[in-house]
Amino acid sequence: MKTLAHISDIHFGRDQPDVTEACIRDVVAAKPDIVINSGDFTQRARRAQYAKAREFMAKFPTPQICVPGNHDIPLYDVIRRFFFPLTRYRKYITADLRPFYKDDHVAILGMNTARSWTWKWNGFWKDGRISPEQLLDVKLRFCELPPDVFKIVVTHHPFIPPPKERPHGIVHGAFEALDMMEDCGVDMVLAGHLHMGYSGDVRTHHEGIKRSIISVQAGTAISNRRRGNEPNAYNLITLNPNQVTITVRAWNGSAFDTHIVTHYARIEGIWQREG
Ligand SMILES: [Fe+2]
Ligand SMILES: [Fe+2]
Repeated sequence: MKTLAHISDIHFGRDQPDVTEACIRDVVAAKPDIVINSGDFTQRARRAQYAKAREFMAKFPTPQICVPGNHDIPLYDVIRRFFFPLTRYRKYITADLRPFYKDDHVAILGMNTARSWTWKWNGFWKDGRISPEQLLDVKLRFCELPPDVFKIVVTHHPFIPPPKERPHGIVHGAFEALDMMEDCGVDMVLAGHLHMGYSGDVRTHHEGIKRSIISVQAGTAISNRRRGNEPNAYNLITLNPNQVTITVRAWNGSAFDTHIVTHYARIEGIWQREG
């Protein structure tokens, strides 16, 4: 069994010090085997915000798999935005934009979906993208691994929308990426960006994908950019080859505690939600 702490959207610059301290205590106490951060480390990609984000991540055990979010690219400084978009991310968080971890039980690949160019199309922003070269990474990293190694891809932008909401924020190139993940036996995708915690089977949103892959979204762990009634939260995910438990640990006003627990069991290749 492996335990992952899945943290996202910490947005330093909009962080809340009491929530931050409590989050650090809670994650450390959980003793995760691996720590994931699915991006938006900062609010505006400023040096001081990155320095705090680095300090925050240094409190947690390694290995860590981190990917940048759209907020980790400067917004107003157009020179930086278009010519050096992730220079500060690489300096303060990690120089590795294709992070990969593997042991006998689990393999995790991080993919950068944040882009300098954003555009409005059909009434919603498409601001994250997976490139054809990144699909090759999925192939190279996963296709040769045995089926009993649990395979996970981490992105900032999501693969499925929140339940009962119109599709928005879905990463561009999701179908092509899932098609490759299906071929290479990926079991789970982890992301953030929408500041809402939820999970589901990618097939509910992507007709044509036959492999059952769980998509897990984390809320904003420590920032005041909460959406509606969503609390500050992160996920503790325990993995067994055919059993997954997602425990949402949420801020209750004085500490983080268990908010929602969801179990999935894989029966004949299909992830079935049990609660
Ligand atoms: Fe965010
Ligand atoms: Fe984001």
